[in-house]
Amino acid sequence: MDDNLAALREQAAAAIDAASNVDALKDVYTSLFGQRGRLTHLLRAIGQRPAAERRERGAELNRIKEEIAQAITQRHTVLEAAAWDAEIAERIDVTLPPRPSPSGLIHPISRTIAEIEAIFGALGFSVAEGPEIEDDWRNFGALNIPEHHPARQDMDTFYLPGRRDGRRRVLRTHTSPGQIRTMTSRPPPYRVIVPGRTYRADHDATHSPMFHQVEGLAVDRAITLGHLKGCLIDFLRAFFDKPLLPVRFRASYFPFTEPSMEVDIGWNRQTGEIGAESDWLEILGSGMVHPRVLANCGVDPREWQGFAFGMGIERVTMLKHGITDLRPFFESDLRWLRHYGFSPLRPPILHEGLGG
Ligand code: DAH
Repeated sequence: MDDNLAALREQAAAAIDAASNVDALKDVYTSLFGQRGRLTHLLRAIGQRPAAERRERGAELNRIKEEIAQAITQRHTVLEAAAWDAEIAERIDVTLPPRPSPSGLIHPISRTIAEIEAIFGALGFSVAEGPEIEDDWRNFGALNIPEHHPARQDMDTFYLPGRRDGRRRVLRTHTSPGQIRTMTSRPPPYRVIVPGRTYRADHDATHSPMFHQVEGLAVDRAITLGHLKGCLIDFLRAFFDKPLLPVRFRASYFPFTEPSMEVDIGWNRQTGEIGAESDWLEILGSGMVHPRVLANCGVDPREWQGFAFGMGIERVTMLKHGITDLRPFFESDLRWLRHYGFSPLRPPILHEGLGG
């Protein structure tokens, strides 16, 4: 090999090594293989050589050409992979803190439902949902509220025209039909909560015609009033993030439970402070599922028993966050939502406490 070729080989190898990106490598390629490239020039010049040299010269040049082409291909693969790595690293910097979200917050109602689901989830309950358009058997009859019972008027029911399976259609006035749907869909035991929208013809600063409740149902062979009290005390203390929250059970009446109890928590009427010991505030209704309700759903009350409860979502949300007016919950005023909304990046996590 003459000195010229040896030098070309060395210089080409050095230039390929030095190319720090794909574009630079392309320039090296062009300087060798392009129209006016050094290798192209040498290959063309073979024809001017004496016939006896051409063959050997040609073979030698071709060998160098192959060698250089291979080196370029290899370098290209390396540079391309590096470029990909750089691009990916640029897009996903896992060390960056999450950006504050410019828009999109969780509505306080959704937040409360998520917290309730987290707490009862930890107590072994699952979440069920039912339709907002119910029939009067599931909303009233099966719950032991007879045809002319005042509760049917008390609840200011919205009736819909027409019937379904011969039953009147209603916008559910409470989530309690969730109990009926659960118990008629599968055999016991049950541990469910049913959050959702409910409707009553009622509208002022503390009542909205559409509002939210959560129903709870636990039925097994030996569920007692003790379980009811334990679950609800644990729930209220976790929800309000007050381990010593005073809780009181007060005898009451609901057609679908026997005995029935209203549940109160300690607070201060003047300051609104939750957990104070000066006053009591009614927070939810509960009781042992009435044997007739079990029987209505085909669950044998001699074998199964349990408790149920129902709670207003808006009310506990207002108490927890010091919100005094119910109306802005449903007015979609962005200023209110920005003030009371929750970051979607911080879902409720029980062991961190739900103080908010
Ligand atoms: N359904 C009742 C209401 O809307 C609340 C309620 C009370 C539900 C007692 C229950 C219960 O499951 O046991 O006022």
